[in-house]
Amino acid sequence: MTTAAAAVMRFSSPFSGQTLLPPRHRVVSSRRAALAVSATAGGSPATVLVTGAGGRTGQIVYKKLKERSDQFTARGLVRTPDSKGKIGGGDDVLVGDIRDPGTIAAAVEGVDALVILTSAVPRMKPGFDPSKGGRPEFYFDEGSDPEQVDWIGQKNQIDAAKSVGVKQIVLVGSMGGTDLNHPLNKLGNGNILVWKRKAEQYLADSGIPYTIIRAGGLQDKDGGVRELIIGKDDEILNTDTKTIARADVAEVCIQALLFEEARFKAFDLASKPEGEGTPTTDFKSVFAQIATRF
Ligand SMILES: NC(=O)c1ccc[n+]([C@@H]2O[C@H](COP(=O)([O-])OP(=O)(O)OC[C@H]3O[C@@H](n4cnc5c(N)ncnc54)[C@H](OP(=O)(O)O)[C@@H]3O)[C@@H](O)[C@H]2O)c1
Repeated sequence: MTTAAAAVMRFSSPFSGQTLLPPRHRVVSSRRAALAVSATAGGSPATVLVTGAGGRTGQIVYKKLKERSDQFTARGLVRTPDSKGKIGGGDDVLVGDIRDPGTIAAAVEGVDALVILTSAVPRMKPGFDPSKGGRPEFYFDEGSDPEQVDWIGQKNQIDAAKSVGVKQIVLVGSMGGTDLNHPLNKLGNGNILVWKRKAEQYLADSGIPYTIIRAGGLQDKDGGVRELIIGKDDEILNTDTKTIARADVAEVCIQALLFEEARFKAFDLASKPEGEGTPTTDFKSVFAQIATRF
């Protein structure tokens, strides 16, 4: 068996016996079971939808999925045609809004796994002059606040995925969610970490196999050159190593689809500085360390 076929088999094998779905979903379920069998024989790659595919981490996940076409068929959801153009998306990239369940339904049809990388994006109020000191103020666009995007929008995605029998959801959240008074909650009075955490809990309660990645401060740096650090309950925030490259988060999203050890797990993620420790390559062992379901 090729490495790719073995990886796809690992992706598919835990789901081959789904029988408890309502009648409308049995057709989907048996088609997936058939796909799993053909994947085991080195056949169909798993179809993976990444939402927020025009975002800074989402576009890396989309690109990595496309590069591994022996294992995955990439699909993307972006909010605007501009984002679609930016990532060079074709028919495999849909334009839709996660606040609108209708557009998500089309995107999840036939999908094996979902990677959620959508997020409300705070905007800086104009007029801030760093030379005068003080702190910038932030706001969210009307209707695009964290409650709408990070709670309702994520919930819509989870519901849509569940209705078509998606086999795994990877959700990227943020460290800091254990602290109601975390400064990020004050941004634009959005309580962003509170709404993200609510969506995480909804996913964990959904019954769908999940991997919740609570990332540290994201950096636009090369991936694959640092040792990853796994934590829980925001303990990493009390250390000096609380950042991670977006490229490393993206890789962990993909690796989570390959290993049984990543399922039903939630964890904090950061990395050592480049040059300290050994760059992580054995993701199976990393996932196996994690003992937390939430
Ligand atoms: N920034 C940090 O240091 C940090 C730290 C820890 C965790 N995180 C989390 O890590 C994740 C990835 O962060 P990132 O900085 O890579 O993300 P990002 O660049 O801010 O991307 C967010 C994406 O969500 C999309 N989106 C927003 N509202 C949407 C809607 N209603 N419908 C469809 N798509 C929508 C945006 O689309 P448009 O491009 O069209 O607006 C954008 O592509 C986020 O959950 C973030 O909160 C960030």
